[in-house]
Amino acid sequence: MCGIVGYVGRGGTVAGSSGTAGHTALDVVMEGLRRLEYRGYDSAGVAVLGEDSIESRKKSGKLANLVAELNADPLPTSMTAIGHTRWATHGGPTDQNAHPHLGDQGRLALIHNGIIENFAEIKVRLRAEGHEFESETDTEVAAELLGSIYRGVVESGDGADDGVDHLTHAMQLTSRQLEGAFTLLAIHQDLPDIVVAARRNSPLVIGLGENENFLGSDVSGFIDFTRRAVELGQDQIVTITPESVSITDFDGVPAEGKEFHVDWDAAAAEKGGFPSFMEKEIHDQPEAVADTLLGRSDVDGKLMLDELRIDPAALKSVDKIIVLACGTSAYAGQVAKYAIEHWCRIPTEVELSHEFRYRDPIVTPNTLVVSISQSGETMDTLMAVRYAKEQGAKTLSICNTNGSTIPRESDAVLYTHAGPEIAVASTKAFLAQITAAYLLGLYLAQLRGNKFQGEIADIMTELGRIPAKIQEVLDHSEDVKQLAQEMAQTKSVLFLGRHVGFPVAMEGALKLKELAYIHAEGFAAGELKHGPIALIEEGQPVFVVVPSRRGRDSLHAKVVSNIQEIRARGAKTIVIAEEGDESVRDYAEHIFYIPETPPLLAPLLTTVPLQIFACALATAKGLDVDQPRNLAKSVTVE
Ligand code: F6R
Repeated sequence: MCGIVGYVGRGGTVAGSSGTAGHTALDVVMEGLRRLEYRGYDSAGVAVLGEDSIESRKKSGKLANLVAELNADPLPTSMTAIGHTRWATHGGPTDQNAHPHLGDQGRLALIHNGIIENFAEIKVRLRAEGHEFESETDTEVAAELLGSIYRGVVESGDGADDGVDHLTHAMQLTSRQLEGAFTLLAIHQDLPDIVVAARRNSPLVIGLGENENFLGSDVSGFIDFTRRAVELGQDQIVTITPESVSITDFDGVPAEGKEFHVDWDAAAAEKGGFPSFMEKEIHDQPEAVADTLLGRSDVDGKLMLDELRIDPAALKSVDKIIVLACGTSAYAGQVAKYAIEHWCRIPTEVELSHEFRYRDPIVTPNTLVVSISQSGETMDTLMAVRYAKEQGAKTLSICNTNGSTIPRESDAVLYTHAGPEIAVASTKAFLAQITAAYLLGLYLAQLRGNKFQGEIADIMTELGRIPAKIQEVLDHSEDVKQLAQEMAQTKSVLFLGRHVGFPVAMEGALKLKELAYIHAEGFAAGELKHGPIALIEEGQPVFVVVPSRRGRDSLHAKVVSNIQEIRARGAKTIVIAEEGDESVRDYAEHIFYIPETPPLLAPLLTTVPLQIFACALATAKGLDVDQPRNLAKSVTVE
């Protein structure tokens, strides 16, 4: 998830007069990047069209570093510019990997948001044709490809008959070759007043001005300059000049965009119109899961985790896995345990990072230590990973932050692609971590031959269906919010689950504690009778995550019995169950249904109503859900 801005124009018109507002292309792009920095902040860059050449500046780190660079080495005044703020996926957060990337021997600049799944094969092809690459990014491959196609179009005159400029035509041809998710913006020195963009599975909005037009990842990219915006459809190309906006599909067929008026204030625009980053991030989850799955398997469903730099032979010899993490990430680890043990038959322990090294753990060179950390900077987890390495274990990091310390110090890394998580309490990173853990489990099963290729492909297909199912849960969340509002005065809530529903129950409780400051506990439902049932009294709210009937039938029946037991003792039962499960109806005061899905994958769905509940309840209490008291996003002390 990166932030993208494009501008072409004559400095804007002052409202009510014919005079120019006097902003340069660079002013517009830098202002847009400031507003889009929430989308990524590990590097930033801009390119402008100078007198007769492209000039660009880019810098790793926050936008302030780019500002300093521009002060030290200013760019020429220009009417055309593109700008990018990066959340690294392919390639660490370095100056070299920062966007823009150049193509056509420096005559073209390109920025990109998304993941190009087939970049490796295109890179091989382009290398064979003599192209050289300076970065590790998929973006540079797209820039070189676009540049090379542009040259071909210019030389052959192809496309000119349709009245389409060469860059637009080249972008159409390029986009047809790319797989995955991408928003691409390009400028070329031959065409001084044009910005061309392409969009597939990645956001892009057009802003309309007077003698100027804009492009942005979202409207906050240009909200300081215009309130007129146009939605771009899937698989479309847009070309903006100061006077015109033209849209086609990837085949060059003209298309229309839908204009709308932006009535959000600038702060709301950054949150995608949601009142808080937390709500936005909960709604980002279909994209976070889809992006984490992108580019991980070939057309036959065979997993290709290229970034796992551990020798496959070494992975085959692993006889124990220890997952290390804290808080929400540790609950993702607990889901991972169920999946890995089931699919790979490798004994898997999950341990809180801060407990691990103080108990003399048994670690050998055949132990794979998997750390899970959104930030990649959690000191407890970092120390535990260092300790595991000292003991000779192989270390693998599941992390959302490219270039952070834990993945850098680990032998291998599997990045989640949730994009920056701004709200302190984790939501989308959690689902992305679980997704990555599934990928790891399936990859190990494939490598070690625990599963047939067809079985792995089937699970990948089911995983591919999850984003749409999460969307369905989000689209039907009004009842959850309503209940949360009614329960704003509640003092204590219990959460029960079994199997993969157990970590979900604990995550539901954690969200409620940290967002709404309500006492909440998550239990394994089977543990009730061993003590916690004493907490049940008249009116005590209890969420129960019911396993699918299609899993182990006996487990479903046992949880239904648990619901009856607590209901008989006066509990207010709130049930999360799979669509079509009528068996719980008589014992549930409230039921929230989730779409059918294989039981092991259910946490990607059952977690969502619990996040929404906690967020809505905290909001009803008037609390700041983005920055709960006493908490920090990245816990860099032990
Ligand atoms: C809870 C939450 C925390 C983090 C924990 C680990 O909502 O966000 O419990 O999960 O502090 O952080 P990372 O994943 O950055 O290591």
